[in-house]
Amino acid sequence: MKVWTKGVKIEKRAHTFGRAKCSTFDFRLYDFNSTGAPDPSLDPTLLAALQELCPQGGNGSVLTDLDLTTPDAFDSNYYSNLQGAHTFGRAQCFTFDFRLYNFSGTGSPDPSLDPTLLAALQELCPEGGNRSVITDLDLTTPDAFDNNYYSNLQRNQGLLQTDQVLFSTPGADDVIALVNAFSANQTAFFESFVESMIRMGNLSPLTGTEGEIRLNCSVVNANLAGPDSMLVSSI
Ligand code: HEM
Repeated sequence: MKVWTKGVKIEKRAHTFGRAKCSTFDFRLYDFNSTGAPDPSLDPTLLAALQELCPQGGNGSVLTDLDLTTPDAFDSNYYSNLQGAHTFGRAQCFTFDFRLYNFSGTGSPDPSLDPTLLAALQELCPEGGNRSVITDLDLTTPDAFDNNYYSNLQRNQGLLQTDQVLFSTPGADDVIALVNAFSANQTAFFESFVESMIRMGNLSPLTGTEGEIRLNCSVVNANLAGPDSMLVSSI
């Protein structure tokens, strides 16, 4: 079963893991195409579950799995392990400055960003400044491959939002547990990282006309301005 049925082949395959917000599919749940009824192509059991998750007038930001059948084929466990690669390296201001001033239109910074780090980043990346300036992904041990990436997240010191959400997403208990486990045990992180790299290496990429290299990694090329741009990668 798929929450999202629109799309081309690569899109469907790519959605074997990841999450989508209610706002990206709730038009299917109540008054589909102004028929006054749900989308008839939606399985009734799935429909009932999604209506409960996404009530009318509810919080459109609630997340659900894109692939309800095997969300774990290459799932958040494996993927979160790989994000630990952000234990070294750098990122440019433009990849995180949306967190510093007017996060999600709130007029305030991202509340999941440690205040001291926030102040330092605001100085580094002033509004209207040079967005190519770089800073360390892991501010504790910027050049060492270790587990401090995970202890940073526990202190709200993840640089990228896609990093910090691993620890700061309410209800994401499995991923939060993973962050805590890797923060406490570097060997466990190393072993999982090795396994995850091998699993990622074993994913069969689509070749030739079967696939495409995305111009924008979160949007299928054929659908650059379409609703797929609202899909989120909450890993
Ligand atoms: C949710 C998935 C991921 C997202 C959204 C993401 C995003 C990013 C971003 C925005 C940067 C900064 C790029 C720049 O400023 O130019 C970065 C850097 C980096 N990423 Fe990721 N990344 C992800 C997963 C991974 C994985 C799976 C690996 C490796 C296994 C990885 C390894 C790195 C490394 C080593 C750097 C530093 C590059 C450098 O210093 O030149 N990332 N990532």
